[in-house]
Amino acid sequence: MKVLITGANGQLGRALVKRLQGCQILALGSADMDITDCKKTFQTIVSYRPEAVIHAAAYTSVDAAETDVHLAYAVNAIGTQNVAAACLECRAKLVYVSTDYVFDGLLGRAYHEFDQTNPQSVYGKSKLAGERLARHIVNRLFIVRTSWLYGDGNNFVKTMLRLGQEKEELRVVNDQYGCPTNVADLAGVIVQLIEGKRYGVYHAANFGVTTWFDFARKIFALTGNQQIRLLPQSTSELGRPAPRPAYSPLHNFMLELTYGQQMRPWEEALNEYLAI
Ligand SMILES: NC(=O)c1ccc[n+]([C@@H]2O[C@H](COP(=O)([O-])OP(=O)(O)OC[C@H]3O[C@@H](n4cnc5c(N)ncnc54)[C@H](OP(=O)(O)O)[C@@H]3O)[C@@H](O)[C@H]2O)c1
Repeated sequence: MKVLITGANGQLGRALVKRLQGCQILALGSADMDITDCKKTFQTIVSYRPEAVIHAAAYTSVDAAETDVHLAYAVNAIGTQNVAAACLECRAKLVYVSTDYVFDGLLGRAYHEFDQTNPQSVYGKSKLAGERLARHIVNRLFIVRTSWLYGDGNNFVKTMLRLGQEKEELRVVNDQYGCPTNVADLAGVIVQLIEGKRYGVYHAANFGVTTWFDFARKIFALTGNQQIRLLPQSTSELGRPAPRPAYSPLHNFMLELTYGQQMRPWEEALNEYLAI
């Protein structure tokens, strides 16, 4: 299959390139194709004539987006519109990667694909805008919502490992719940989806629920760091600019319904990541 990947220098993009080794792929970073450039995006995608486009590029700085509203929407909404328009032209399947931050976190249980969205942050709103624009333009669409990613790039696991070397004591948020997800597992699900035609919205997160605090505790336990003292901290104490959902674990209901499968537990996926 001929596949074009946007955001190829990002965490998920790198995992996709690895996963699709042996396939015919065009992997593009922002220097190759700025997705906010409508004409260039259209020309680049249409001239390659991919069978599938995996759109992993995004403005991902959740806090900065609160003040950088224009750019967040330009990339996440209009950039997606540009990519989708090119997919329509060359009849390519499109995967749009989205986020648990499209939910408000107030439901009190894990969110499935048929639950109501209600993003609270600019990042979440701009990602939902991308979902909607993609839906307006293409039918052969997979919207894949995921959460708390870690892989090859800047992420929470790497931050904890670095701080674990520098500090004796660390305060970590213990009132936000979600599903940490290994990008290698997510890439596997995306590749499986594009091989079929079961279009729709999919949640794809490693199984199980945790807090950032317990996630950190597990990282240090698995790497044998017994010296670090972890202290729980509330979201309001941390005082970050962007509101985050308090409880936004993703239930991979569509994967269960269509493929009868679940993703492996987050602890197992983390263990493998740390062992590499
Ligand atoms: N990280 C998470 O925890 C998380 C959680 C839920 C959902 N997601 C979603 O998952 C997807 C992948 O996330 P990630 O963690 O892999 O992101 P990432 O590491 O931040 O990578 C995002 C990539 O997007 C590219 N990009 C940004 N602006 C662009 C533009 N104008 N034109 C073209 N490319 C542009 C960047 O390319 P260059 O490096 O080449 O500049 C960057 O490498 C995103 O859609 C994100 O919204 C992420």
